[in-house]
Amino acid sequence: MAVHQEREHWKSRFGFLMAAVGSAVGLGNMWRFPYLTAEHGGAAFVILYILMSVFIAIPVLLAEMAIGRGASRGPIQALGFYGGRWWKCLGAVFVAAGFLIASYYSVIAGWTLRYSLEALFIGFPNDPVAHFGEISSGWDALAWHLTFMASTMWIVGNGVTGGIERTSVIVMPLLFLVVCGLAVYAATLPGGDAGYAYYLSAEDYTDIFSLDVLADAAGQAFFSLSLGMGAMLTYASYLDRTTNLPVQATIIAFSDFSVALVAGLVVFPIIFALGLSQDVSESTLGALFITLPKAFLDLGVVGRAVGFLFFATLVVGALTSLISLIEVVVASTVDLTGWKRRSATLSTGIAAAVFGIPAAINISILDAMDQVATHVLLIGGGLALAVFTGWVMPEPEREIAAGAGSYWWFPLWRRILRYAVPLTLALLMFKAVPRTVSNVLALFP
Ligand code: TRP
Repeated sequence: MAVHQEREHWKSRFGFLMAAVGSAVGLGNMWRFPYLTAEHGGAAFVILYILMSVFIAIPVLLAEMAIGRGASRGPIQALGFYGGRWWKCLGAVFVAAGFLIASYYSVIAGWTLRYSLEALFIGFPNDPVAHFGEISSGWDALAWHLTFMASTMWIVGNGVTGGIERTSVIVMPLLFLVVCGLAVYAATLPGGDAGYAYYLSAEDYTDIFSLDVLADAAGQAFFSLSLGMGAMLTYASYLDRTTNLPVQATIIAFSDFSVALVAGLVVFPIIFALGLSQDVSESTLGALFITLPKAFLDLGVVGRAVGFLFFATLVVGALTSLISLIEVVVASTVDLTGWKRRSATLSTGIAAAVFGIPAAINISILDAMDQVATHVLLIGGGLALAVFTGWVMPEPEREIAAGAGSYWWFPLWRRILRYAVPLTLALLMFKAVPRTVSNVLALFP
């Protein structure tokens, strides 16, 4: 087993922040969030998502950070450190979840890489529906999936500071600038107003009272903040005890939410300005990959440039997120076996790439993996983490006080983890698990 003291540390707090924001900001913000918002009728969903993020997800984010930094180990060892042998099994489930998500996430990331390079060198396709069909399955998808995974492995293999931190501090600030620039461009399009109206003011709030929608909002909150499987835990394990965890957690959550919100401000006006709103209301997993290229094609030369920037941003977001998913598995492998980082990265990456092959070949398998991961594994993982921090870990308040000082709301935080989070998530799972099973079965008639 690797010795505790040898563990790498982030070079700077900014480096940690950019890596953590890099983990959070990704396809979840720019692809999943707009598509779920469209599926559930606009602003009502946005409100639910914010509520779920503030009251359920952020307390869990702080819990993950407390466990990770306190134990300075990956999820399996960290849960074992505070909770004993049985809790290690939960850590193992986390690592497995990370592995599963990484394997299909890389497939979608592969599509974005292909779109951005095509925008740059060829232009957008004349028939986006057919084009998406071609690139999202079979050998094509597989090749790009493997390419993306290989790039991720290269960065993770270079280490926490030399690979992950160094990449994140450069690309994340750029990503922010570009997304904001795209939103400004979208605001100049005539006819975009309907998009803002659709996105920001709901006509129909009945959805809010549906547990299914609530479960989607919670699943999205966890997915977007990279919670429920130990990714933030692992990143926090490379922090020192002078860091102010509540402040960092707030900045991470706020940045993540801002990018999702601004991504909506890019996507919806563009789609409505070009009269493609019908496509949005029929939104499915692939919709953005069809509708947006249609819009970019109609916008001519400018559209091609904007489209390139949009997909390039997705690539960057996806890369820094996939890095964190792979890092969870790599960190645990290193902790458990004492292998060198490079060998652990190589074997993890190859295994995840192979495991993702079915998702690359068949989009229904990908959809099924995403549903199982978000509705079952992440919500369940969040529940277990809340119970762990609320009931098992000795004095988690002490850990967050290190570097922050004590605050009046610490006991409240613990109570939220003890009662509010487990109850809410258990209720949602009660609904979400059967629904996921039937959805998954329906994908394979
Ligand atoms: N948060 C990322 C996104 O929004 C995806 C991601 C990275 C993730 N690491 C994770 C999701 C860990 C769940 C768990 O795209």
